[in-house]
Amino acid sequence: MKKRIGVLTSGGDCAGLNAAIRAITHYAIETYGWQVIGIRKGTTGLISRPLDYQELTTDFCDSSLLRSGGTTLGSTNKDDPFNFPNTDGTRTDRSKDLWEGYQQLGLDALIGIGGDGSMRILRQLAQLGGINLVTIPKTIDNDLGHTEIAIGYTTALEVATEALDRLQPTAASHQRVMVLEVMGRDAGHIALSAGIAGGADVILIPEIPYTLQKIADKITSLAHKGKNFALVIVAEAVKKENGEAATVATEGNRPRYGGIGQYLGEKIQKLTGAETRVTVLGHVQRGGQPCAWDRIVASAFGVAAVDLIAAGKFDRMVAWRHRQVIDIPIEDAIRHYQAVEMGEIMIKTAKGLGIYVGDFDSENSLTKG
Ligand code: F6P
Repeated sequence: MKKRIGVLTSGGDCAGLNAAIRAITHYAIETYGWQVIGIRKGTTGLISRPLDYQELTTDFCDSSLLRSGGTTLGSTNKDDPFNFPNTDGTRTDRSKDLWEGYQQLGLDALIGIGGDGSMRILRQLAQLGGINLVTIPKTIDNDLGHTEIAIGYTTALEVATEALDRLQPTAASHQRVMVLEVMGRDAGHIALSAGIAGGADVILIPEIPYTLQKIADKITSLAHKGKNFALVIVAEAVKKENGEAATVATEGNRPRYGGIGQYLGEKIQKLTGAETRVTVLGHVQRGGQPCAWDRIVASAFGVAAVDLIAAGKFDRMVAWRHRQVIDIPIEDAIRHYQAVEMGEIMIKTAKGLGIYVGDFDSENSLTKG
């Protein structure tokens, strides 16, 4: 029977979302003969009246979409349907409107492309009944459980690595310490991997405590060996030495991180006497063309998500494991937060390269900060 399926992108955008939308559209139309409805601005498209959506065609989802950054459908990380912001500043539960929107569109299933926060909300909505949900993981933070990779992470990693590549020659020319602050929220995946790929001397991630003195010692020891510059990469959620988070704002109960790079830059300059400069990479990590691997993973996820619908398997998230796309209960993915683990290969590699990554006494335990 011909199905009508919906697709939406929710939460912060990233590179590779359009590749997933394109794959879903092509595969659903050409292999199954279904109709694909793109819902605009995340779940808000189903809450709005008139409903905010567009039919997706193979012509619209051509190969230029595959290459483009952002999401052609738009997204939101603010409009929780259970706590929806009104124009007058109050908030209302609009979940019923969303459910009615889904019914009005006559959808047989919905593919939600999102991170843990979006998936939690989408799942809660689906459980109200009547919404057949399949999800695709996306987040530059790569912190979702049970998937080795989420859409957007690899491009963000490439951007952060390229930033170190660009900082290195100017650091060397001016004998400076360059501090690069990257995103990732409470997980240090971007900082750790980019730090290895980009030849950092110090990598600081939220999972591992550090001391300013040890950072300074590392930089001073480099100078003694004749290397008169240093690269430091720090994840945005790394705390100050006193345990305080560096934030620029609080949205709801969620901090918006920012400022740890500047804090470290000032301290390093003071302790080492080395001239120090700070770069905050910010949303540059989310925009731009997706790298090849993000396009490939997004395309594979899109095809697999459509197959799940065809098989009638709902409440599942597609996931990447050992060069395969598998599917797991959405609940498992959102329950398992994937931070950097002390025993993982990236930590071992960074330590093996002599990079200061903070203080822990064995592969599995942290020393007290
Ligand atoms: O979760 C993705 C992410 O880019 C984080 O790494 C970052 O802390 C946050 O979103 C930024 O959110 P916003 O786009 O709301 O500033």
